[in-house]
Amino acid sequence: MPPCARSACSGVQQSTGLLHAQDDKQAAVVFEHVTKRFGDAIAVDDVDLRIDDGAFVAIIGSSGCGKTTLLKTVNALVMPDEGRVLVHGQATSSADPIELRRNIGYAIQGSVLFPHLTVEQNIAYVPTLLNSGDKDRTEAAVAKWMDIIGLPRDIMDRYPAELSGGQAQRVGIARALAASPDVLLADEPFSAVDAITRASLQDEIKRIHRQTGITVLFVTHDIDEALDLGDQVLVMEAGRAVQFAPPCDILRAPATAFVDRLVTRKRTVYAR
Ligand SMILES: Nc1ncnc2c1ncn2[C@@H]1O[C@H](COP(=O)(O)OP(=O)(O)O)[C@@H](O)[C@H]1O
Ligand SMILES: [Mg+2]
Repeated sequence: MPPCARSACSGVQQSTGLLHAQDDKQAAVVFEHVTKRFGDAIAVDDVDLRIDDGAFVAIIGSSGCGKTTLLKTVNALVMPDEGRVLVHGQATSSADPIELRRNIGYAIQGSVLFPHLTVEQNIAYVPTLLNSGDKDRTEAAVAKWMDIIGLPRDIMDRYPAELSGGQAQRVGIARALAASPDVLLADEPFSAVDAITRASLQDEIKRIHRQTGITVLFVTHDIDEALDLGDQVLVMEAGRAVQFAPPCDILRAPATAFVDRLVTRKRTVYAR
């Protein structure tokens, strides 16, 4: 489906600036003038926007533009130098990082599985901590997430080295989701897998988003993936959030020359 056929589009109205969604919806994450520097280099530059509860935000931009750093400010792996980040109304600076991360799943590129634990033990890792020894509850959580993410039960006892790339990536996502977080941070989670596996993982993540109502912040450097997955697309350029808008608005009214270049080819494809 071309992104412009989506209901999330705002007709002919342009949204070239940063879009602050309506205040009547609860915000899952708010970035308030967030800046992060590493030495003299600015990784995130005055990012100021709010992400609605239940949104699927695709974050796109060139390598080194600050996508990962921005994502890490949400689960307090990075603390801003200026501004603050609120997760469900609480500032990350005043939150207990362990408590905070309990409600925030984190899926990253490549295999980040514990090599010495089986698939089952990897997925069960956080639920085991949370369910404090309630084995049945943990087993049920593992089985549920293996089904949702499309993993056959018979690989449960395998170790990460015995999995294909696609399976390992699925286990990583199942593990990130098994703690039933409110927010999922996904940092290029599908870039290391082949095109077919990738397409099926994209379908899974869309379905999980629809089914669970989880808020997803999904980093990608692939414009196709961003336009296809995001209800909203956030384009970053040299640390700045240059456009935050539904996919059709990104296509129709790119805010900068960079966004324009990013979508030029797409526009011709969708205009056919
Ligand atoms: N821990 C770090 N120490 C120093 N510089 C960093 C660190 N993390 C990121 N950077 C720099 O910040 C900028 C943004 O990086 P990053 O957020 O990883 O970008 P992206 O994910 O978009 O590729 C880059 O210039 C990168 O080199
Ligand atoms: Mg990155």
